[in-house]
Amino acid sequence: MNVLVIGSGGREHALCWKLSQNPRVSRILAAPGNGGTAQVAQNVPLKDDDINGLIALAKAEAVGLVVVGPEAPLVAGMADACAREGIPCFGPSAFAARLEGSKAFAKTIMREAGVPTAGFGVFDDVEAAREYVRAHGAPLVVKADGLAAGKGVVVAKTVEEALEAIDDMMVKKSFGAAGATVVVEDALIGEEASFLAFCDGERFALLPSAQDHKAVFDGDQGPNTGGMGAYSPAPVLPQEQYAATAELCIRPILKRLAELGHPFKGVLYAGLMFTKSGPMVLEYNVRFGDPECQPLLMRLDGDLLDIMFACAEGRLDPAMARVRPETALCVVLAAPGYPASYPKGMAITGLAEADALPDVKVFQAGTKIQDGKPVTSGGRVLGVTALGATLAEAKAKAYAAVAKVHFEGRHFRRDIGDKGIARAK
Ligand code: AMP
Ligand code: GLY
Repeated sequence: MNVLVIGSGGREHALCWKLSQNPRVSRILAAPGNGGTAQVAQNVPLKDDDINGLIALAKAEAVGLVVVGPEAPLVAGMADACAREGIPCFGPSAFAARLEGSKAFAKTIMREAGVPTAGFGVFDDVEAAREYVRAHGAPLVVKADGLAAGKGVVVAKTVEEALEAIDDMMVKKSFGAAGATVVVEDALIGEEASFLAFCDGERFALLPSAQDHKAVFDGDQGPNTGGMGAYSPAPVLPQEQYAATAELCIRPILKRLAELGHPFKGVLYAGLMFTKSGPMVLEYNVRFGDPECQPLLMRLDGDLLDIMFACAEGRLDPAMARVRPETALCVVLAAPGYPASYPKGMAITGLAEADALPDVKVFQAGTKIQDGKPVTSGGRVLGVTALGATLAEAKAKAYAAVAKVHFEGRHFRRDIGDKGIARAK
């Protein structure tokens, strides 16, 4: 069978790598892919939101399953286009993808479904938004409604900061149409974790907990990034609590979307905060997280192709998502300057040496092959991932592999996993 994987990040390299382990997969196409996907797939230079081009490719290459990595094509209707053509697709419809594409929609569905989340208001009028901020007082969180590449959230410690964020989004239109509507919500305090589930519209199969590291520097300092590292499981959400947590944040959403006539098929990602009064949902994503996908797929023992088909066809068995008991940890190596502007085209060395270490896999993100050799082509360049018997062992193995890989000016966090290690003590 031919499979088309859409996207170009470390997540998509991990998806291609895992799918390639199924002997029924004859060929994987990655659009547009990267230097890592090129090892196991054929890269096709199509943008991830070129829905017509992607559908034409899927038809021409007799693709039997389309796997959508990022959110933009889902929000733009890739799964709906596949459905019209009768091509099985792993990923939700545009309607269900609004859980990520519109924060106001997500909050409304959460309220309707009874999911615990921060108190909030939704505004498309700037004066009403200002009034709410003045009446509530700080701290508050201001969120652009639409997709803003992870940058549309401001945690405001003062009323002035919140007003400035509103001005930025609604008046200066820093995020374009994405900021025409804003959500203003109560600031919550606690440790964060990600909880993901494969969903077939009705049933779900839980993945183990994971934790991302969004800030660029050690100790959660500096601006937010797409994610500088991740590990699974996250001790803040232990296995004994998975079932109860799913009843809180996965099942009610699936039930509500099914009631609305738009069952959710794909990966549902709940971004949770563990507050003093219990877990609360900060956001939903409608896809794997990047980099959380890399450690999660390192641990997945079940067959990814079978799971994705079962989701697409509405016959998921929760037992399919078996995972290895080990911990997996991923360290992101970024280009100098990231998350601000950064140079491209630096030669990468030591990939094969790092990959050859036991229990290590280097997933590539912002890379491409130039004159037969890997060079950097993005901000997040590599996700060096390792399995270990404990979190501390996974960390040691991942950083030992990091030491083998080089490109000019690379930077990375040295404290990936430390919160979990501290909690486990
Ligand atoms: P989101 O894209 O909604 O997950 O927000 C991005 C980040 O902003 C989260 O990972 C949190 O660190 C922070 N954040 C979002 N909502 C809240 C909230 N209500 N209280 C405190 N921090 C928040
Ligand atoms: N790592 C967080 C995300 O993919 O949204």
